[in-house]
Amino acid sequence: MQASAKIIPEAPATIAGAVPDQRKQDYRNAMARLGAAVNVVTSDGPAGLAGFAATAVCSVTDDPPTLLVCINRGSSAYPAVNANRVLCVNTLSHAHEDLSRRFGGKTPVQERFEGASWSVLETGAPALDDALISLDCKVKSVSDGGTHDILICEVVAIKENEGGQALIYFDRRYHTI
Ligand SMILES: Cc1cc2nc3c(=O)[nH]c(=O)nc-3n(C[C@H](O)[C@H](O)[C@H](O)COP(=O)(O)O)c2cc1C
Repeated sequence: MQASAKIIPEAPATIAGAVPDQRKQDYRNAMARLGAAVNVVTSDGPAGLAGFAATAVCSVTDDPPTLLVCINRGSSAYPAVNANRVLCVNTLSHAHEDLSRRFGGKTPVQERFEGASWSVLETGAPALDDALISLDCKVKSVSDGGTHDILICEVVAIKENEGGQALIYFDRRYHTI
């Protein structure tokens, strides 16, 4: 790693309180340097099938097993996830780069699921058969995260496949470790 560092001063909010575009871009550039595992989060139920690629997934506690997922309120998956109140976090392997592009792009929902094999665990949300892990969840509470909702999810079933390498998103590119 290079020894040079750049300090980016925080641009002030405008009088109207809006965050300046430069400040948002600086933050997005910083987050691009925060490598993260890539997941496909799915849901199914009365409000229909949905799925999206997500890196904003984090463990909260093991008592009871709980994780959080951040979902953009403007995304195509939001209405179904919000109403179904169940989801499955499928952590992707090195073999799933194309799948991640489908779930992270503007592909119609049915097409996102084609060409991969899915099952259900407890909640009815699709679990990807060859995911590194599938964490089947009930949404327990929702917090306001501005453009996003922060979903606190209790894990009710876990499926694990042995072996495989992780798919990591870093510097706006996919990597395998
Ligand atoms: C690597 C990657 C990570 C993403 N992480 C998230 C995330 O954590 N939360 C989220 O709401 N959207 C995230 N997205 C965007 C969603 O996948 C989004 O649904 C997708 O861009 C398609 O938008 P649409 O479902 O509205 O068509 C991510 C996209 C990519 C490619």
